[in-house]
Amino acid sequence: MMTTTRSEASSLPPAPHHHHLHRNRLVAVKFTRYGGYLIILVCFYSLGRLSSSSSSSSPSYSSSREAAPTTPISLAEPLPPPPRIHRAEAGDDDHNLFLTRCGSPVASNHVRQTILDRVFNGSSPWQDFPPAHVAPLLRPRRIRGWGSNGAVFENLIREVRPRVIIEVGTFLGASALHMVSVARNLGLRDTQIVCVDDFRGWPGFQEKFKELKMVNGDVLLMQQFMQNVAGLKATEQVVMMPFSTSSALVKLCEWGVFGDLVEVDAGHDFHAAWSDINAAYKILKRPGGVIFGHDYFTSADSGGVRRAVHLFARLNHLRVEVDGQHWVIRPPTPTSS
Ligand SMILES: C[S@@+](CC[C@H](N)C(=O)[O-])C[C@H]1O[C@@H](n2cnc3c(N)ncnc32)[C@H](O)[C@@H]1O
Repeated sequence: MMTTTRSEASSLPPAPHHHHLHRNRLVAVKFTRYGGYLIILVCFYSLGRLSSSSSSSSPSYSSSREAAPTTPISLAEPLPPPPRIHRAEAGDDDHNLFLTRCGSPVASNHVRQTILDRVFNGSSPWQDFPPAHVAPLLRPRRIRGWGSNGAVFENLIREVRPRVIIEVGTFLGASALHMVSVARNLGLRDTQIVCVDDFRGWPGFQEKFKELKMVNGDVLLMQQFMQNVAGLKATEQVVMMPFSTSSALVKLCEWGVFGDLVEVDAGHDFHAAWSDINAAYKILKRPGGVIFGHDYFTSADSGGVRRAVHLFARLNHLRVEVDGQHWVIRPPTPTSS
């Protein structure tokens, strides 16, 4: 009879039923190990899904997405819900905040004098105009504009009967002087037009305006504009703010100079239009004032003006109307809001 010790038994080939048991145990161990890996993997995957879905639903406001609405708001459509701006993310929406608080409104009939005092030391810039060194360089009349006689001007002047019009972007005065003529024809002799422009045009613009003479790097745009105003005998109806739109609009706001009509027609890229529209809206008289602007259909900067107008309308719950090449926004009156 053969006896075996335990140690011998382990070194001997396992009996058939032992072999079976051993294999089962091996399978169980492997299963437990790989199952564990599998469970860990599933857990990580689920956690990833959870965190990604919670971050996308967490309150975030992407202004760049807002900045590119693809479809214009039509008048018939209900307004989209206002975007949610979360204070907890202060800073993300700073580009939407134009915080300047305007001064108490100056009476319409004091607007001209306010600007003469603040900008021209109290005297008219047309006094002794044109100076001797400039006179021979100016044309009696040189006006060129873009859509400057559009029907929108007469439509809005008839409707609003403005006492103060603020034009943001004037160039040689084509639209400003058209508005002077329309106002006169409607019997609005006291309407004051404030022209905001740095009178620098844009880089290289003089290639198409070769007749504008350059003196020491100055293309005399403001002087030719002034000459055009003088030619229409409108020097009492027009006054200019010859600065960048951003600095001029902030100052008008601080001084309490508001417009019954505010027209925006300066830079046509998104950021210029966005900044101008926001600053110009602050100095729109309410109720009753109307803000409008040119180049609604321009393709510049991928429809930069239109994108800015619609972003502005969305954030402020306003409707955009279109009149010819112009966009028009009427702030709600207290009863219509
Ligand atoms: C298209 S033209 C205005 C045309 C005018 N509204 C018309 O219909 O005859 C644009 C004017 O905006 C002025 N402009 C553009 N960006 C400006 C800025 N940031 N500050 C001041 N003026 C600016 C230019 O000097 C130019 O005269």
